[in-house]
Amino acid sequence: MLTTCVFSNNRSFIKRLGVVVFWAIIAACGVSKNHQSSELTGLTLEEKVGQTCQITLDVVAQTDAQGRTLVPLKLDTNKLTEALVKYKVGSILNVSWHTLSREQWREITETIHAYYASGRIKIPVIYGIDAIHGVNYTRGATLFPQEIGLAATWNPSIAEEFARITAYETRASGIPWNFSPVLDLGRNPLWSRNFETLGEDPYLASVMGAAIVKGYQGNNSNSIDSLHVLACMKHFVGYSAALSGRDRTPAWIPDKYMKELYLPSFNAAVKAGAQTVMINSGSVNGIPGHVNTSLIQHTLKDEWKFPGFAVSDWEDFNMLHTVHRVAPDLKTAYEGAFNAGVDMSMVPLSPDYKIYCESMIQSVQEGRISLDRLNDAVNRINITKQAVGLMNKIQPSLDTYSAFGSPQHKRASKQAALESITLLKNNGALPINTTTKFLVAGPCADNLNAINGAWTHTWQGMDTSFNTKGCKTIVQAMLGKYGGQCLISKGVELFKEKEVEQSRFVDLNDYIQKLEEVETVILCLGELPGTEKPGDIRSLNLDSKQLELAKLAYAKKKNVIVVLVEGRPRIIRDIVDSAAAIVQCYLPGDYGAEALVELISGESNFSGKLPYTYPKYDGVMEFYDRPRSVDRSNVGDFNAFDPQWPFGFGLHYGEVSYEHLKCKEELSENAPWEISVDVINKGNRQIEEVVQFYVGDESASMVPAGEQLKRFEKVKISAGQSVNVRFVLNKTDLMLVNQEGEWVFEPGTFTYTLGSLKGKMVIK
Ligand code: BGC
Repeated sequence: MLTTCVFSNNRSFIKRLGVVVFWAIIAACGVSKNHQSSELTGLTLEEKVGQTCQITLDVVAQTDAQGRTLVPLKLDTNKLTEALVKYKVGSILNVSWHTLSREQWREITETIHAYYASGRIKIPVIYGIDAIHGVNYTRGATLFPQEIGLAATWNPSIAEEFARITAYETRASGIPWNFSPVLDLGRNPLWSRNFETLGEDPYLASVMGAAIVKGYQGNNSNSIDSLHVLACMKHFVGYSAALSGRDRTPAWIPDKYMKELYLPSFNAAVKAGAQTVMINSGSVNGIPGHVNTSLIQHTLKDEWKFPGFAVSDWEDFNMLHTVHRVAPDLKTAYEGAFNAGVDMSMVPLSPDYKIYCESMIQSVQEGRISLDRLNDAVNRINITKQAVGLMNKIQPSLDTYSAFGSPQHKRASKQAALESITLLKNNGALPINTTTKFLVAGPCADNLNAINGAWTHTWQGMDTSFNTKGCKTIVQAMLGKYGGQCLISKGVELFKEKEVEQSRFVDLNDYIQKLEEVETVILCLGELPGTEKPGDIRSLNLDSKQLELAKLAYAKKKNVIVVLVEGRPRIIRDIVDSAAAIVQCYLPGDYGAEALVELISGESNFSGKLPYTYPKYDGVMEFYDRPRSVDRSNVGDFNAFDPQWPFGFGLHYGEVSYEHLKCKEELSENAPWEISVDVINKGNRQIEEVVQFYVGDESASMVPAGEQLKRFEKVKISAGQSVNVRFVLNKTDLMLVNQEGEWVFEPGTFTYTLGSLKGKMVIK
């Protein structure tokens, strides 16, 4: 078959070159020319509908007698031909339940593309994957901290570099489309996908999200080269705001807060050139994401002029009928979603995809879906396929990606972890300065999967069999640094039973005995990997057995350094006061343990800052930008806002001071406003300081937020040196959504906080 003949691994370099030249000439002779209109006019109705259909890899894989996908995965050519040639399916996604080698990916993606290269299908298939924190379904890939950790770096260049490397390694696996970044706002810490977000603040998420889009797609989103991939903003929009905190449950979001909080990160990503979007699987205000015409068609496509295409989330066309019950049957469900502006359906199973294709053809023939709407969707999909180079019959050779999993990629991942891990408390216990023995304990101490989280080699990230060799757990990294000084004990084990998280004591006597031998305990607490429905939890409290490990150590007057390994902030109030130090790791990835050891040993300095408000009580969920009315400070000492740690908080070794603030007190509405400050490193080692600038409206036509993040910059300052930081804003930065639902600027008095300094400005 041409497939294997064109792309065979075994071909000599000369033969390969000959083939490349041949196809390059064909491509140059017109394939890439005017393809948009000519490809579309030449397509039959069946071909157009097929373009809107996405199936999962299992559908075209060989299976055993029980219908289970074979391991290692092998394509079933009959099934593939049926899907691509008979049903004209335009997209394939995902992976089966195991991680594949690059060679397997090569075989899969080259076989699929050969259907187009050989002319068996008119439009190439686009392959998409969840490369959430690195190309996590390719063996040996570089895994980074999860998005919540990237947000905690407050460093857009780290986010961009993460995305650039992930794009490279995804492309090195033959895949041009990444279902990332998650741009949902992390406003409900219970939500199992909190770790996939960029935190609670729309401005931070916008800046970091746009940087990720740029890193994925490169500088020209209309022509994405072979080192980059298509980004997919998800999940448009409001998915994260589930009232119950459980995955895929209803959200209520008033228009004002939809505009002010949940939409900005998507808007910023569209401006950064994001070419695809995935739709929210849940419902907002009673409207399932997939039939929300107002958001998808009006806001995203008409108002923002989003040029790319919208793909549904998993089975979500069907779920309009089967789960949300806003359609009496599947056919009506498909029509509803498609007419609302969703261009591609992640159907993705069989025989569902056949039913989808047949039903959609019928809907167009009956006029229930207009040809214009179908053409619009197919056009968007085709433009995107062209933008990422898929219309070229010859795809880049996977042999050229020699930096896949390279030491420099690993260093970048470790750097991201170094800049994200956040020091929340330190009474002097850190850096560790001991020549005596200490104990490393807790359920997350010796668990590589725990520090990676879900979307690590498998969907839920629990399977250890695909872990990258040489990547260290916290225990292994500590042993590497401190050798025999380090005693190990687990104390508590985490497990899941019927998808509910559980814990039990293990070798508790061993833990207690080893406590006697040491002065210091590094206690690694947290949670197991999990995402989506399987990641649902019932309480934000960290389980009592883990807390007990700390309490046992306190009772023996030990210095306890609490290391948190968690995708969402779990309540730890009872163990905070007696802790000697507390470090938040988030889910720092394959090199996170080494980074942690470098930080707590003092070899590197901390610079991460919380991208969310760390709650103290599980009954009180609040965010930093709460209206001042929450505090009720004029009605007595309510202290209503009382988080464990505030948004933007994080310590480092050393001392910083903010001086020489410059900002005019009276400003005019139309001129840009400038503010500057000197940030001085008063300590004796280099620091990286995140300079944060917050502004709050003293009074407005609707209850104003207290203070909101408007600018930030991470600056490196040598010992004893100072850096001048300057921000320029204008009135678009201080707009709010008024009672009519419009963005307006209301002049008046504003307060601000810049680092440790506060001030007031009157804008007329
Ligand atoms: C998730 C998406 C993901 C998709 C494909 C869905 O269940 O919500 O985030 O991209 O599956 O794996």
